[in-house]
Amino acid sequence: MIETVATTPFDGQKPGTSGLRKKVPVFQQKNYAENFIQSIFDGLDGFAGKTLVVGGDGRYYNREVIGTAIRMAAANGFGRVMVGRDGLLSTPAASNIIRQYQAFGGIVLSASHNPGGPDGDFGIKYNASNGGPASEKITDAIFAKTKTITSYRIERSPAPDIGRIGSSKLGAMTVEVIDPVADYAGLMQKLFDFDAIRALFKSGFAMRFDAMSAITGPYATAILEGLLGAAKGTVVNGTPLPDFGGHHPDPNLVHAKELYDLLMSKDAPDLGAASDGDGDRNLIIGRNQFVTPSDSLAMLAANARLAPGYAKGLAGIARSMPTSAAADRVAAKLGIKCYETPTGWKFFGNLLDAGMATICGEESAGTGSDHVREKDGLWAVLLWLNILAKRRQSVADIVRQHWRDFGRNYYSRHDYEEVDAEAASGLMKSLRDRMGTLPGSHAIKAMDDFAYDDPVDGSRTEGQGIRILFEDGSRIVYRLSGTGTAGATLRVYIERFEPDAARHGLETQAALVDLIALSRQLAGIEARTGRAQPSVIT
Ligand code: G1P
Ligand code: ZN
Repeated sequence: MIETVATTPFDGQKPGTSGLRKKVPVFQQKNYAENFIQSIFDGLDGFAGKTLVVGGDGRYYNREVIGTAIRMAAANGFGRVMVGRDGLLSTPAASNIIRQYQAFGGIVLSASHNPGGPDGDFGIKYNASNGGPASEKITDAIFAKTKTITSYRIERSPAPDIGRIGSSKLGAMTVEVIDPVADYAGLMQKLFDFDAIRALFKSGFAMRFDAMSAITGPYATAILEGLLGAAKGTVVNGTPLPDFGGHHPDPNLVHAKELYDLLMSKDAPDLGAASDGDGDRNLIIGRNQFVTPSDSLAMLAANARLAPGYAKGLAGIARSMPTSAAADRVAAKLGIKCYETPTGWKFFGNLLDAGMATICGEESAGTGSDHVREKDGLWAVLLWLNILAKRRQSVADIVRQHWRDFGRNYYSRHDYEEVDAEAASGLMKSLRDRMGTLPGSHAIKAMDDFAYDDPVDGSRTEGQGIRILFEDGSRIVYRLSGTGTAGATLRVYIERFEPDAARHGLETQAALVDLIALSRQLAGIEARTGRAQPSVIT
């Protein structure tokens, strides 16, 4: 039986870089999640009788909202819901399921790399039929609906047991509980040379994959230890926990420090890798060699032809604006285009759909390709493994060789987290106000506020970050995070190109020291935010 429940709008249900993200207690307010899910459905057209994919990263409150989403999908007229067993689907796996089964769209429950648990973060994101995050047009429509909502529809009967694979009915709708890993593993086998990687592991290649007690545990265990024959114990923290074991499931040098320390130690395995809360980010560390995400994108693109799925070559590369220009150099050498998009995976969707780009990436540890419409953590790890299996060199050798061939883009991101929101917007405004006057001083060549004209649909996206471009090609970029849930996060991206191989061995922060000082001085960071140092350096 379908019930219509009266409700009133909540403020602030505006989807950010990756859906609606709030603290768990915010989502636990009566009708909060229901309002947003109904607004998603109200913002969409033509889904009657169609399939909706539902899954999440298993964080605290996942199960409850999965049940609600299934019951609301039934009440709103979907014909079928496909849900991962126990409500689990990594973000890239959800994207794949939507595409593979030609679903109308999907609801993905995740706050990505943000901490989970009763006081942690939660999120709801809508993905469209191409498997990618909803376009601005759709998220704007959803947001508009959240402001006028008066009721939501929900099936009164409880959702069926999602702990067992199989099919059942809820009202007129079919609920299909699926294995979260199988289809994804099948896709990976089509893209990569599993025989070569198996041979690599057989030859004694050692790896550690830190699943950070998040969603990639089951995927990595099945693929690396199961299909590829990596030693048992290769995957650590492989059981998804609702609070990620109290950790911050963000695969960077701060939160995956143990892995980093291991890879820098005498007992280091050949490769270390990690993924985030929902499985779309990746961290790659070779023995004694960290690979920055921007470099990883460039190196994956340069070597992609070694994998069967990319043997034909790449149509193009795309990177978000703050990502380093290392990939641009690869694109130039390959004679293909490199697109520069605003931050957020959704901007790659059109380029991928139109066949203009094959590989995409962001400096924030996101890399992926046209195989799905999300970034994909395990995909990046498997492409690295495929390359290592074919080249039979160490990660460090491949990295050094790449720098010799293309030059090195020294690159770092400095985050000032949870600063006062007004202070942060004041800082950005002050930079904008000086846009016309700064060039000419400090060897600044140009300055702008990044805007993107989508070459496929002609849409324009403005205000995507202040770029300061220097005469020698160096850059400082300032932007405010669109994924935080408390205060504002100021991100400062700093980059310098070094063509001279004799100068490729510097420590990154040391190589950027002058630009770092200037980034603080130009924006008056300490005076405006009270922060002398960033909270996180990546
Ligand atoms: C951050 C990253 C961005 C990524 C997004 C979702 O967004 O910077 O590259 O697409 O998370 O994972 P931000 O908080 O900077 O808006
Ligand atoms: Zn993520």
